[in-house]
Amino acid sequence: MHIGETITQFIIEEQRRVGGNGDFTALLNDVFTSCKAISGAVNKGDLIGVLGSAESENIQGETQKKLDIISNDMMINANIWGGHLAAMASEEMDDIYEIPGQYPRGKYLLVFDPLDGSSNIDVNISVGTIFSILRCPDGVEKPTAEDFMQPGTEQVCAGYALYGPSTMMVMTTGHGVNAFTLDQNVGEFILTQKDMKIPEDTAEFSINASNQRFWEPPVQRYVAECLAGKDGEARDKNFNMRWVASMVAEVHRILTRGGIFLYPKDNKDPAMAGKLRLMYEANPMSMIVEQAGGVSSTGRERIMEIQPTGLHQRVPVILGSRNEVERVISYHKE
Ligand code: AHG
Ligand code: MN
Ligand code: MN
Repeated sequence: MHIGETITQFIIEEQRRVGGNGDFTALLNDVFTSCKAISGAVNKGDLIGVLGSAESENIQGETQKKLDIISNDMMINANIWGGHLAAMASEEMDDIYEIPGQYPRGKYLLVFDPLDGSSNIDVNISVGTIFSILRCPDGVEKPTAEDFMQPGTEQVCAGYALYGPSTMMVMTTGHGVNAFTLDQNVGEFILTQKDMKIPEDTAEFSINASNQRFWEPPVQRYVAECLAGKDGEARDKNFNMRWVASMVAEVHRILTRGGIFLYPKDNKDPAMAGKLRLMYEANPMSMIVEQAGGVSSTGRERIMEIQPTGLHQRVPVILGSRNEVERVISYHKE
């Protein structure tokens, strides 16, 4: 029986097309291995005692779940030894993680959110892993956080694993977006959706409406018009609303059937420009969304052009179907 195109075959063929030396392909394979390991832990859940809080906090003051820490360890373990990385950075680690001296150092930097959607872990709702690969600047032997401060346009690759009813891997190296589904028997991700494209129009929006009183006028206006639907002046269609609270699941829905996702700037905490993290969430998701024909913006600027100033920097995020995101951007200009 034919097992379909594995993700390994897919990236090796891509490597042959661009004439790489296999380093990048090997790095990606290690990332896939870590996501398969995380998928296994997420899937077994309570059977292996991994649910619940770890009773520790990350640098952003968020309580860590046991699985946040386990997933972070799995990412490190699978990617530490291969010789493809110079350093890693994670939402769950205060500082960058340098590859220890006993292993060879490579030319790439790996950035990740080991488990996105932590609030959903204990209630058995989809969570995911988000990753982004950057080049270590030329001549840098000992990378520092400064070497990670590259705009999203510099990403070599971005992807996410979605731990839902199926485990999926969705990734881009800048030549479109492809989705793979984990075949548990084969132990490999198999290509299931080629060259995904986000429909330009949509009638589905996602926003955490409990923050409404903190939003800025352009977002207030946009959401009010969606809610008014056909009965209002602005729109000729009625809208549906979804909020999973796992960005990975939200982006996957948008890639599959369109939609707009907003975690906008609000005035809840003036010290925070938004909730989502530029390096671990906003940039990789923006690359995927743009590669699928969508748009990703803060409302005021293209996310991938932001010059990062800190590893754990937060930004407003508005992404998805082109015509809706452009409408929100135009409201910010008025
Ligand atoms: P994380 O679990 O990595 O901290 O990220 C959660 C993020 C994102 O996935 C989701 O869209 C958003 O936070 C949900 O925020 P609210 O709980 O404010 O709705
Ligand atoms: Mn996250
Ligand atoms: Mn996380």
